[in-house]
Amino acid sequence: AHRVEQDYDYLFKIVLIGDSGVGKSNILSRFTRNEFLLESKSTIGVEFATRTLQVEGKTVKAQIWDTAGQERYRAITSAYYRGKTIADSNIVIMMAGNKSDLNHLRSVAEEDGQNLAEAEGLSFLETSALEAKNVEKAFQTMLTEVY
Ligand code: GTP
Ligand code: MG
Repeated sequence: AHRVEQDYDYLFKIVLIGDSGVGKSNILSRFTRNEFLLESKSTIGVEFATRTLQVEGKTVKAQIWDTAGQERYRAITSAYYRGKTIADSNIVIMMAGNKSDLNHLRSVAEEDGQNLAEAEGLSFLETSALEAKNVEKAFQTMLTEVY
């Protein structure tokens, strides 16, 4: 019989959600391809990418779903995380405050983000897909927590 070699120890699914324009697709492209697009197109429905990395000595394959933030796709995108509200207590939710490079245009104080995350029991990081700041760390944090 033919045996399929598995090239990872764990497979984790990650869903990116948030308002349109906050930078979900660029966080994904930074993490999976080390790319950033200044003029990226708004996502239609759902896109998908993977990256395999080491987490605490294990090979982890991250399967990442990038959902559209635009309201009109809500019926499609919600299907990708709807199950989570009723499912596993094993899920990890992380909040990212992206575009930290635009500090001069900041509308939420870092402390307010931190307090909200704390109140909701979430991990929190300010990220910049543009500067590649904390993107790696955000995914590493999530994958370590779920693992
Ligand atoms: P939808 O697909 O519509 O839900 O939007 P999105 O959340 O995927 O946003 P997207 O990644 O397409 O980014 C929207 C705009 O913000 C683009 O012009 C990006 O170049 C820009 N952008 C994304 N991340 C950053 C960042 O960290 N810093 C700065 N300055 N701009 C960013
Ligand atoms: Mg997008």
